[in-house]
Amino acid sequence: MAEFRLPKNSRIQKGKTFAAPAGAKRVKRFQVYRWDPDSGENPRVDLFEIDLDDCGPMVLDAVIKIKNEIDPTLTFRRSCREGICGSCAFNIDGTNTLACTKAIDDIKGDVKIYPLPHMPVIKDLVPDLTHFYAQYASIQPWIKTQSPAPPDKERLQSPEDRRKMDGLYECILCACCSTSCPSYWWNGDRYLGPAILLQAYRWLVDSRDEATGERLDELNDPFRLYRCHTIMNCARTCPKGLNPAKAIAEIKKMMLARASL
Ligand code: SF4
Ligand code: SF4
Ligand code: FES
Repeated sequence: MAEFRLPKNSRIQKGKTFAAPAGAKRVKRFQVYRWDPDSGENPRVDLFEIDLDDCGPMVLDAVIKIKNEIDPTLTFRRSCREGICGSCAFNIDGTNTLACTKAIDDIKGDVKIYPLPHMPVIKDLVPDLTHFYAQYASIQPWIKTQSPAPPDKERLQSPEDRRKMDGLYECILCACCSTSCPSYWWNGDRYLGPAILLQAYRWLVDSRDEATGERLDELNDPFRLYRCHTIMNCARTCPKGLNPAKAIAEIKKMMLARASL
């Protein structure tokens, strides 16, 4: 088996190697980040050789195969396997994306799988998203109203108003964008980051919501909103093709319009 290389100056060590079964014809190598806090050992990268003739087409298929057939201790999140739940977000081949929608054949050379960057790791490919979800809760992601609900029907929305949420409602909160954003890496304790700000904008443009002013006041902070420097990593990496940077720019425009009232 040929040696594999880790990035220069990496403090991660090379770990175990698992050779493909004898007779495998279409072998692909997967370098997978491993870290077990209970072991007291440094992180390592294990190498798994997988026979693609005996594996599904997506990176998540290979990761599940590794867990089921080679190393049951490999730890990761996944649920829907169709790009809806947002659980299987990893850094794959240098880009944050969903393992269940990333085709193995689209990756040249070894497939390198790491946890989402700049987040505390709980184990192997599982980042600690506690702070991310607390930030999501902080924007109060539900409809807020003062007026009484109609007695005989839901709060309705015109098709035109509904369309204003296109490009926003599709967000699955996978955190790929926030963990690719340099501003979030350095100021994530206070900067809300692209995912949460896209979600904030989704509630700001919802015609049924009656707390727009209050929501803008909450966001009007040098750190919560204004750490976006339009670096655009977020839009480039979003596996759902969304554009959080645009949503952030729209929030800034709403702030300006409110200030000029
Ligand atoms: S905007 Fe895209 S990358 Fe960011 S959390 Fe939503 S779906 Fe994931
Ligand atoms: S555009 Fe803004 S939110 Fe997106 S990656 Fe850049 S700094 Fe982060
Ligand atoms: S497993 Fe649900 S998005 Fe990948």
